[in-house]
Amino acid sequence: MAIKKKSKKKFKAVIIVGARPNFMKASPLIRAMNSDGGIFESILLHTGQHYDSLMNDVFFKDLDLPKPLFFLGVGSGTHIQQIAKSMLALEETLVKIKADLVIVVGDVNSTLAGALAAKKLSIPLVHVEAGLRSFDEAMPEEINRTLTDRMANFLFTTEESANRNLVKEGVNPQKIHFVGNTMIDSLHYHMPQISKSFILNKLSLDKNNYAVLTMHRPSNVDNKNHFLNIFEALYSIQKKITIVFPVHPRTRKQMEELGFEKKFKNLKNLVLIEPLGYIDFMKLVSDSRLVFTDSGGLQEETTTLGIPCITLRENTERPVTVEVGTNVIVGTDAQKIIQEAQSVFDGKFKKGRIPQHWDGKTALRIIGILSEKMI
Ligand code: UD1
Repeated sequence: MAIKKKSKKKFKAVIIVGARPNFMKASPLIRAMNSDGGIFESILLHTGQHYDSLMNDVFFKDLDLPKPLFFLGVGSGTHIQQIAKSMLALEETLVKIKADLVIVVGDVNSTLAGALAAKKLSIPLVHVEAGLRSFDEAMPEEINRTLTDRMANFLFTTEESANRNLVKEGVNPQKIHFVGNTMIDSLHYHMPQISKSFILNKLSLDKNNYAVLTMHRPSNVDNKNHFLNIFEALYSIQKKITIVFPVHPRTRKQMEELGFEKKFKNLKNLVLIEPLGYIDFMKLVSDSRLVFTDSGGLQEETTTLGIPCITLRENTERPVTVEVGTNVIVGTDAQKIIQEAQSVFDGKFKKGRIPQHWDGKTALRIIGILSEKMI
């Protein structure tokens, strides 16, 4: 799709973010657009899906993100409430801005809301991190990314499996660009600060002598049996290594509701902490022995850092992290989790490589391609 030419005037490119994993994907794009001689004026718009200081403000500071020009204050709610509220606010704002282009990243509810609003307003739509598929529709993100891709005019992919998925779904290959991973751009760009973080001292940890755990997916924390299976594995593993667990607000809520708080607190070597900012968290991961997670992004970050990643899910939409990287998919079977951790302790865990195009230059490629389309 060609974007309408405007003489001399810069194109207004609206980047929509809403939730924590969006911020590290959007920040390199803004930096690339704001570099000298660019043809875009970047406008950051925040739906407000995440709003707590630990889920939001700290990332803006750590990632040098500009204050969003518009904050829509959508907040928490059911998925339908979040998407519907975001769309209503987005319609008004995008019309006011007279946006030439809308860029959405990732697969959260704000991504889908942004895509729907842009499409209904006939504004060209860019999806960064297109084509990833877990083929598991019980996962809210799978619905978000599939529908967003269906609407997008420009689809930028992080790995080749995404290109194949999109072509199978009938997307015109000319719309698809395999460019790499803007989240990994953030990791490269901020590495000097990450290496200087004092988080290990603050938590009295020794490099390579602790594990990191993150877990917030409904399939794990809303399901009592899965939660208990994971607990059983952690109970055993924390006898061998300290596990640091920054607790997501939704997980905290579920732990209280299921009466698990005391159970977790009683594990001597499981350290429960508040969610960390980007710089401290990436330092914690970089210096860890291994990671347990159900996050999508962390599977990619650990692959880039060469840290063993044990994924507490039945599938992944990011297969390159398994085929090329350091990721294994174990689900919630306690014995399997323990076995994989043991293989790390025994030095038998696989070594990975860095996937193609995860080189810190993805945002430049994306903005280069978009700029070409204007000429
Ligand atoms: C969302 C994304 C998920 C992403 C995750 C990262 C969707 C469908 N899910 O999940 O893909 O991996 O963000 O964090 O978009 N809450 C707070 N403070 C906040 C934000 C949330 O306390 O700043 C609590 C609220 O109780 C809220 C719950 O967390 O109801 C869930 O938040 P929500 O944005 O709905 O989804 P996440 O689980 O964070």
